[in-house]
Amino acid sequence: MTETRLECIAVALDTDDRDTYSDWCGLFGPRVGVLKVGPRVVLRWGRDAVREAAATGADVFLDMKFHDIPSTVAGAVGAAKELGVTYLTVHAGGGRRMLEAAAEEAGDEVRVLGITVLTHLDADDLRDLDLPGAAGDRVLSWAGSAKAAGCAGVVCSPLELATLRARLGPELLLVSPGIRFEAGPGAAVADDQRRVASPSAALRAGADLLVIGRPLTQAPDPETALAALAEACE
Ligand code: C5P
Repeated sequence: MTETRLECIAVALDTDDRDTYSDWCGLFGPRVGVLKVGPRVVLRWGRDAVREAAATGADVFLDMKFHDIPSTVAGAVGAAKELGVTYLTVHAGGGRRMLEAAAEEAGDEVRVLGITVLTHLDADDLRDLDLPGAAGDRVLSWAGSAKAAGCAGVVCSPLELATLRARLGPELLLVSPGIRFEAGPGAAVADDQRRVASPSAALRAGADLLVIGRPLTQAPDPETALAALAEACE
């Protein structure tokens, strides 16, 4: 039986074990639109691991969350472009010139996503960081900066999706982590996410791509969890 590829799902391959990484590539790669790799994978196993994810036929999302001076970020984007990734992240709070440098270097080949406010942060955390105001307001302002600088999209929590879609238009890609199943396999993962929603709620609110890690990778039965997602993605 040929399984449908769930194009709206990016699986976060966050592991420290090489065999587990390969198992997840084999399990999820043919079934979802995107595989997301971050520093844990890249710093251990490098470009080969990125190529292994790409070989499954899924698009690769390089989630290194760059935040540096514009020329350094542009250089990193250029290296990611050579590697053939489809998505990469930069911190939207890095400022207009950094975002513009990333978007310019990416051109049409890579989709630069601006990270807004990370989904583990709540209002208390933001106050501690001396970032006054509601998380949603900061997300809107940083997402607007990313759009103005030419980024293809932004990463935001599910709670900000509807506002961003309404305020920033239909073209901007909205990518949302912080996805949690309400019931079934993967519902009960222990985690550090605070601003969360179910897959179907996030898609209804305007998400283009859902980033899901532990609810899939740690699910006692990933097949059933994927089947539940198929319904949400329809
Ligand atoms: O396991 P879980 O579903 O929480 O994984 C979410 C993934 O999305 C992690 O790889 C995390 O680094 C990433 N992410 C996030 N919040 C952001 C940006 C990326 O949780 N704002």
